[in-house]
Amino acid sequence: MPLADRVRNPALKTKIMSAEAAAALIPAGANVGMSGFTGAGYPKAVPQALAQRIERLHAAGEAFRIGLWTGASTAPELDGALAKVHGIEMRLPYQSDPTVRQQINAGQMQYTDIHLSHVAQLAWFGFLGHLDVAVVEVAGILPDGRLIPSSSVGNNKTWLDQADKIILEVNSLQNAGLEGMHDIYYGTRLPPHRLPIPLVNPGDRIGEPYLTCDLSKVVAVVQTSQPDRNSAFAAPDGTSQRIAGHLIEFLQHEVKHGRLPADLLPLQSGVGNIANAVLAGLNDGPFNNLTAYTEVLQDGMLDMLRSGKLSMASATALSLSPEALADFNENIDFYSKRIVLRSQEISNHPQVVRRLGVIAMNAMIEADLYGNVNSTHIMGSSIMNGIGGSGDFARNAYLSFFMTPSVAKDGAISCIVPMVSHVDHTEHDVEVIVTEQGLADLRGLSPTQRARLIIEKCAHPDYRPALLDYFERAQRDAPGKHTPHLLGEALSWHARYVETGHMLPDANLERRLRRA
Ligand code: COA
Repeated sequence: MPLADRVRNPALKTKIMSAEAAAALIPAGANVGMSGFTGAGYPKAVPQALAQRIERLHAAGEAFRIGLWTGASTAPELDGALAKVHGIEMRLPYQSDPTVRQQINAGQMQYTDIHLSHVAQLAWFGFLGHLDVAVVEVAGILPDGRLIPSSSVGNNKTWLDQADKIILEVNSLQNAGLEGMHDIYYGTRLPPHRLPIPLVNPGDRIGEPYLTCDLSKVVAVVQTSQPDRNSAFAAPDGTSQRIAGHLIEFLQHEVKHGRLPADLLPLQSGVGNIANAVLAGLNDGPFNNLTAYTEVLQDGMLDMLRSGKLSMASATALSLSPEALADFNENIDFYSKRIVLRSQEISNHPQVVRRLGVIAMNAMIEADLYGNVNSTHIMGSSIMNGIGGSGDFARNAYLSFFMTPSVAKDGAISCIVPMVSHVDHTEHDVEVIVTEQGLADLRGLSPTQRARLIIEKCAHPDYRPALLDYFERAQRDAPGKHTPHLLGEALSWHARYVETGHMLPDANLERRLRRA
């Protein structure tokens, strides 16, 4: 569809302007809610124009920074461009950009890492401050002013409702067939007036296919024609294939023992290559008629929809490689009947996740002997990305898996440690730990029972003796025998890695960016 046909509301047509003119409407110090989730559906032109403006202002000695709120991670044109000109004062609720990460870890940018299902309600409660401007990408504007959402929904509904001013980017490169794929629920209320969310199957539609906003708040409409980030995934390697193999074997075991139905329960799959490998394993595996209630729909799920293994998928964003995107665009009629894109407060809602009995499968940085999990920090003080939706799903899931290779940095670091250097998921939210070495089913076990199993099943053989030695000395010498620790020694593991220079999360910026 040509650009002009995408903006069909006469009043909004009069607001069409350049990205530079729109960026000039954002004041210094503003909190700006931008669209974007895992590199999909983020504004492409206005953030870059804003970055250029900030650079000019800084060169002239004028201070200009914004608070940047999004759905989740974006792309070099947004996070990268604004960070490079030091234009971000406060970032929330998630990021995976190398420049942003570097500035946060250098103490040059504030970062609030938030459960993704919480963000909208925190904004509504007024806990995050005032939202001044929304910059939201859409796929089109209907004659009556309703907005066709783009390749992600994220927090767009909340940003459009809460902001004083709205800037819309209408991207003609987004497939016009996205229209109708979204389900925007306008029934959420604030306590004490909340009602149950009427969603009982992953494919239920409980809202409307369009976003709406007060048209008098729209100050600019900018037309673009640029692709999403569309990062490629690595082909599954031996390590991730072995992790996938252990997990699938365990699911079969659970079905055999009557603890899961033959078609399992709705799947949630985290982001990244390991998650993609698990999906590839499931696509070749024994289960049929599966469903997904997840946050991000990446290549593996598209493959499963195409093969028929997956009958439908609910998410808040697409995150596709260029090849998968080409397939999606060619077969949009097939996919639009099988995919529902929702606001992130609904895709990740604890109430719904608990009701549906979701099987949560997330990656982690490290786990400790007692089952506590670190998903966010390298050596306890440097952020990698953020907690994302992992906590929304892990705590409320029917079954919660955390996965990692047993070692990082070519074996120099063990991902099973005596005590995690930062806790995102406590031992109470972690049921199964999987590495390429094996799988530890922690359900119903005491801390000391968990420790023996994790060492035996998940730790790399090179690190098992040291971990066992620590555990046995802790059992002997710790004052409490319930969760025995030698506190002085437990964290020295991490300190040792820091000394050897292995703590730098930005060691491989380019690769990290592609996978973010
Ligand atoms: N110590 C030091 N570095 C470690 C490490 C450890 N214990 N474990 C991993 N790393 C490093 C790796 O070496 C790699 O570094 P590199 O990019 O320089 O090669 C990097 O961390 C990523 O590790 P990798 O094994 O490639 O995993 P990943 O890309 O699957 O990412 C997380 C793992 C945990 C960072 C990622 O899944 C994440 O951000 N999770 C939190 C959010 C989330 O779960 N979202 C989904 C919810 S819906």
